[in-house]
Order: sequence, then C-alpha cells, then structure tokens
Amino acid sequence: MKKPLTKDTPPEKTADVEADPSRHVGEAEAESNFLDHTLRPSRWDEYIGQKNIKENLRILLDAAKERNHPPEHILFYGPPGLGKTTLAHLIAKETGAQIKVTSGPAIEKVGDLAAILTNLSPGDILFIDEIHRLNRTIEEVLYPAMESGALDIIIGKGPSARTIQLELPAFTLIAATTRVALLSSPLRSRFSGGIFRLEFYTEAEIKEIIHRSSKILKVTIEGSAAEEIAKRSRFTPRTANYFLKRCRDFAQIKKMDLTRENVKEALTLLGIDERGLSPSDRNILHTIANKFNGGPVGLGTLAASLSEEEATLEEFNEPYLLQIGFLERTPRGRTVTAAGYSHLSISMPAHLQEKLL
Ligand code: ADE
Repeated sequence: MKKPLTKDTPPEKTADVEADPSRHVGEAEAESNFLDHTLRPSRWDEYIGQKNIKENLRILLDAAKERNHPPEHILFYGPPGLGKTTLAHLIAKETGAQIKVTSGPAIEKVGDLAAILTNLSPGDILFIDEIHRLNRTIEEVLYPAMESGALDIIIGKGPSARTIQLELPAFTLIAATTRVALLSSPLRSRFSGGIFRLEFYTEAEIKEIIHRSSKILKVTIEGSAAEEIAKRSRFTPRTANYFLKRCRDFAQIKKMDLTRENVKEALTLLGIDERGLSPSDRNILHTIANKFNGGPVGLGTLAASLSEEEATLEEFNEPYLLQIGFLERTPRGRTVTAAGYSHLSISMPAHLQEKLL
C-alpha cells in the first residue's frame, strides 16, 4: 500500500510516466531523485525564470509575513518539469515554514487526508502534487479545511451517524497540477492566494540553468554545447538537466569533452532531434499526417491508434508540440501544421494547404 504522506520527500512518480527520453525516465529512479534534489535551487534568488510569478509570490509572502499570518492557499499549474514543486519548497524556505509533501493519488481515503490535516502544526505548508487525481469525496473534505480551518468528520453509519468538527491549525495549502481543467470549480475558487500558470522558459533561461547545473555536477561545458542542449530541451528545466546528465555520461565514457558536436551525437543517440522532439512526438505527428490525412483527428481516436493513454498525450507531448506550432488543437480535433509538415520533411496535403490561403 502507498504511504499517504512522505514528509519532506517528493511524491512518488506515477505510472503514466513511461520510458521515453522526453519524459526523463529510463534513468535510474534513485539517481533521478538524488540529482533532481541537488540541481533544484534551494534559494529564492537561485531560481531562474518565471519572473512574473516570482514577483507576485514575493508580494503575497511579504504581505502575509507583515500580518503575521500564513500565506493564503496557492495553486500552480502547467506542463510537467517547469518547477512547480521547486517553487513550493522555496516558499517554505522563504517563510520558514515546515513543508509536508503528499500527492493526489497517495491520498486514497478520507481518513488519509484527515490524518494529514490533523498532524499539521500552525504555519505548516501542505504540498499536494497532482491534485487533479484527488477523488471528489476527499476533495469535499478539503473545502472547509481550506476555507475555515475546519475538518468535518462523519462518525458511524445510518441513523446513528453524526458529524464532529475539528478545528485545524492555520496552514497554507500549495497544490500543483498538470491538468487544471480537471479541477472542480469549487476547489479552484478556494485558492485565494492565487492560481499561477507556469510558462515555458526562454532558451536563454534554459542555458543559464544548464550552466548552473554543470557547476553543481562539476562538469566543464562549452558555451556552444550548452546552447545545443538548451535548443533541444523543450523550454523545460527538468529536460535540460536530464539531457545534461546524459551528455555528461556520453562524454565520460567516450573520454571526450562536452563540445557542441558531442552533445549533438549524444542527443541524437537518444532519439532527440534538433527541435527537441522525441521518437514519440514524431510518431504522433507522423500518425496524424499519414493515417489521418493531417487531421483533424479526435484525441480518443489518436490515442487508440498510437496505443497510448489520452492523458499521456495531453500532459507530456501536446504542450510542447502546440508551443512550437507543430500541432494545432481545433474544435474538431488535432491537426499537423505547415511547420509540423516541414519538420517531418513531408509535403502538406492540398486540402490543408488550401485552408491556409
Ligand atoms: N533547476 C531546475 N529548475 C531551475 C530553475 N528554475 N532555476 C534554477 N535552476 C533550476
């Protein structure tokens, strides 16, 4: 059975993360956790990017501190690997609060959540990752806890059932999700501190992160090699760090330096092309182009054709393909764009070209 709460440790990886270089798996889990931890910024000013969110959080945290009250509840959403968990830890560090970490799928029963909430100390931060995977009954226990610090527990069954209310210490809930649309609106409306969407990083920011990580890993990397990794990192720090580690392995085994040419060779060997697309990204584009005449094709049909989960496509592949304009989401389904066709080096069918005119 899963443990509902792991204090100060990151939540478990979920089953829908598969062996695909763009999803940073295939690496040993232990190494990943260790390095994720080492490369993660541990101070506010070390965190690169997300400037607007940082500015807004700074005000929220300073104002709460002046009022001597825990900050209000915060929700972070956006594609995986952009730093939602890192921000939660940095907020804890900035406010001097203790952080307790859990995740939606780890909270299986109302009792699990009740145990977590009643074990909080005043001022604690409770971080719930993947909050979209919390079931509705449990979510409803969270509402009064977030709103008025009360925990309503039903004891017994049938006519003798009664409700008791426990008063909880003042705490801050920080939640993260890659699927904000799956949250119910009553839950969303209770994040009174703010709902923040993490944006993809710029290539310059990713390059800065790669240089910072290289120093921590004690590897020497040429500026042009860092640029090459940045170019292929899907504007995502976690991907950049994963690629940096794989390139370091490659250079070490081949007894070579981390030059641009070696980085290109290492990443090509992993199946990552010059725009950062993995084999599964290219497979998606090829499938839409070849089997569905360029689209539009509905998500369900596409997922079935690829033997893939809809959620995996939506969470891991689509955000980047949409961001770089290789894929378009229309009310009738997904379509490959002219840029997507050009990347695949295949010509766009006439009926799609006509639509562009
Ligand atoms: N490592 C991973 N994400 C980072 C970030 N946003 N800033 C600095 N280092 C990072």
